[in-house]
Order: sequence, then C-alpha cells, then structure tokens
Amino acid sequence: MIALEHIVKEYDKKIILNDIHFTIEQGQSLAFTGQNGCGKSTLLKIIAGLVRPTKGCVCLEKGKLIHYVPEHFPKMNLTARRYLSYMGKMDNLEDAALETCLHELAEEFFVSNMLDIPMKYLSKGSLQKIGVIQALLKEPDILLLDEPLSGQDVMSQQVFIQKIQELQKHHVTILMSCHEPYLVDAIADEVYRFADGKIVLESHKPAGEVQWYHMFFVRTEKADIPEKWKGHLQFTEQGCILRAADGECDRAIVEMLEAGWNLRGMRCEK
Ligand SMILES: Nc1ncnc2c1ncn2[C@@H]1O[C@H](COP(=O)(O)OP(=O)(O)O)[C@@H](O)[C@H]1O
Ligand SMILES: [Mg+2]
Repeated sequence: MIALEHIVKEYDKKIILNDIHFTIEQGQSLAFTGQNGCGKSTLLKIIAGLVRPTKGCVCLEKGKLIHYVPEHFPKMNLTARRYLSYMGKMDNLEDAALETCLHELAEEFFVSNMLDIPMKYLSKGSLQKIGVIQALLKEPDILLLDEPLSGQDVMSQQVFIQKIQELQKHHVTILMSCHEPYLVDAIADEVYRFADGKIVLESHKPAGEVQWYHMFFVRTEKADIPEKWKGHLQFTEQGCILRAADGECDRAIVEMLEAGWNLRGMRCEK
C-alpha cells in the first residue's frame, strides 16, 4: 500500500534520513520511536506529501484517503468547530452526519466546551485532540499520527486506543510516532526505532490471537512501582492502569500486589 523507496532527507547538508527502504501493507500498524530530532516527524511528513525527500520517493496506492495529524498546529483564528466543519466538508461528509459525529467525538475527548474558542488560544493537548477528532470524522485508508495524545489524560488516551482499535478492525493502515510504551503497546504491531538516519525493526507482535487486559490498581501507602511494569502503566488519580497480555496477567497481578497495590478491576481489550 505504501512503498518507501530509498528515501534520503538532508537539512542543511545534515543527513536526517539515510536510505529508508521498506513497504507497508494495508492494515498494518507501525510505531516509530527514537530520540527527539531523529527524524520521525520528517518521515511522516514525507509520507503525507508535505515534505519532499532529497532523494528517493514514496509510492502510494492510488485513490487512498490519507489523514495526517501533525504534532504541532499553526496558530489559527478559526474556532475548532469551524475548522472541524471545514475539514469534514472536504471529506464530503453531509451536514447532519458531520454535526452528530463532531458532537459525539468532542464529548468523548472532553473538548465540547472548547469548540467555540479560536484555536490559537487552545493548549497543545487540546489541539492534539482536535487533530485526532478531525482524523476520525471520516475513516481514512491511511492514518498518520505524530505523537498523538502524548502526555495526555488517561481517559482520553483510553478512548483514543479504542478508536484506533476500531480502525484496525477495518484494516486502516496506521503509522504513528510515539514515545509512550503504553500507546505503542496498545496500537502497534511493529515498532521501528530511528537512529543515525536508519530505522530498525525493534519488535514485532505475532499476528492476532494475543488477548490484552487492562487492570485497574489503587495505591496503598507503601506502593512502589515494579521496574518491569513501569513502561506499561498509566497513572490515574487513584492509582494506575496496567496493560498486559494474556499470559502475563497472573505475574503482573502478583508483582503489583507485592509492590503494594490493590487490584480493583480488570477489562478485556477488544
Ligand atoms: N524544516 C526544517 N529545516 C531544518 N531542519 C529541520 C527541519 N525540520 C526538521 N529539521 C531537523 O531534522 C531533524 C529531525 O527532526 P524531526 O523529524 O522533527 O525529529 P523527531 O520528530 O524525531 O523529533 C532535527 O534535527 C530537526 O532539527
Ligand atoms: Mg517529531
């Protein structure tokens, strides 16, 4: 569906991406990780057609709808409602359907009370949510997400994960740059790490079949965070949510209990 052919990108004679060459099939979900400045956003922009590679090219299957959620939005005078309405119309959504969809998504991401504020006054986090809502108004074939909802509230991230998993069931191709192991684990089936202009496949989830659980823990006075589960925890006001695969749940529960947490509930993902 997407072929990256020997992509090289230089800025001021400095090589940012060095001969990136691989293909992405329909329905795959890829995460790009790596230190700040390693070229994740640049590669996403190149795939979105917003930045031209110095060498090489991106071949996209014809007629596919691509949505791109940038890491940063330009300062705009438009209100979020008007922006989302324009974007929905560009996607050929009918007025009534657009209105309903916008209302529902704004409620789910807790931004209903921000829709009538000019976007230049919204925080980075709220703008990221508006970007995600825009991408979800109409189901794309390819979704490019640059650090989506990083560092955001747990509830919004949970809604985001559920929405992305619905798209995955519909075989939407998803490419996302992300630092947070929690989001990477929940969404990506392949994780690529960027370093020195190259990208390397870091991990690969076996296709399907793994069942994931979300376990809700509350802290006791002496609660400690086990090293092994650090990257898999999302903190909430009362405690944390741990996401673990089928075979790991028993061990996760025992180790969390030993570390001073109480299990309050569990939810099966998907
Ligand atoms: N428009 C630009 N002009 C010059 N240098 C740029 C530009 N955009 C990005 N860079 C540089 O390219 C490198 C990769 O940036 P970026 O793709 O944003 O990294 P990441 O998203 O992984 O943090 C950085 O060193 C950054 O300073
Ligand atoms: Mg970036």
